[in-house]
Amino acid sequence: MEIIRIPRIVQDTCNKHRMKGRSVGFVPTMGALHGGHLSLIKRSRMENDITIASIFVNPIQFGPAEDLAKYPRDIEDDVRKLREHDIDMLFLPDDGLMYPKGFETRVEAGHLAKKLCGRFRPGHFNGVATVVAKLFNITSPTRAYFGQKDFQQALIIKRMARDLNFNIETVVCPIIREHDGLAMSSRNRYLDEEQRTAASKIFRGLNAASAAIHSGGSVSEIRSLMVKMLSSEPLITQIDYASIYDPETLDEVTEIKDELLLAVAARLGETRLIDNMLVNVS
Ligand code: PAJ
Repeated sequence: MEIIRIPRIVQDTCNKHRMKGRSVGFVPTMGALHGGHLSLIKRSRMENDITIASIFVNPIQFGPAEDLAKYPRDIEDDVRKLREHDIDMLFLPDDGLMYPKGFETRVEAGHLAKKLCGRFRPGHFNGVATVVAKLFNITSPTRAYFGQKDFQQALIIKRMARDLNFNIETVVCPIIREHDGLAMSSRNRYLDEEQRTAASKIFRGLNAASAAIHSGGSVSEIRSLMVKMLSSEPLITQIDYASIYDPETLDEVTEIKDELLLAVAARLGETRLIDNMLVNVS
């Protein structure tokens, strides 16, 4: 596995692969790699000749009061995991190379970025869309892999790729969970033992809501059930949202039909966790 820090060199190497007719799979990450990230790597390895991952804790997607400074960084362990998975290249830029002095052009995501997490993290998805556009231009992959864990992010990136004519297939992969159902996340490292146990309530809430949908519950019953389950856990200190959405528009639904998205963002002290589940009613 080559580790390359300079965007220009990654660009040249990727162009050479594409010119030789090789397919390139790309997995963008912010590091502190876990089973969720590695599932994307495995999928890319299966579907492409070449797999490239990036690790970059993108400063412009963090709000001023968010966890940029303390975001978990464990580059040695990440490199070891990526070598074990036998990928071809790791792109590991630093801030100065991604955002040189005078950097001022950004991608503005549309209305999808204002919903769900967008209401609580203003500017976040513009920061994500901007860095992903840059990473797409640097790696020019055939396919790029994202997790359903960040459902809204994947939807916004798909929309950006379509709207800005990136000739890249965006592949969305299933959520990988811990044994008790908690969705794997780099931020789970912030949880103490008690919070870690309590955090599994999020998945249980989603499961209960899914079961209630299948047994004919109404939108308001299901929403209340989710909120009740989450609020019954004292270590869940705030619920940013917990509701039922249309998976294409991210609008809250008014009736149960077709495919639905159950989505939750909840805080355990300082740690904000998100999770979701797609439910097919038909
Ligand atoms: P990060 O949080 O490191 O996640 C990188 C990718 O891993 C994302 O596509 C995310 O959805 C996926 N992922 C995270 N947890 C997962 C899980 N439990 N199961 C499956 N996939 C999972 O998302 C970002 O980084 C950044 O916003 C990024 C796209 C790299 C732009 O900076």
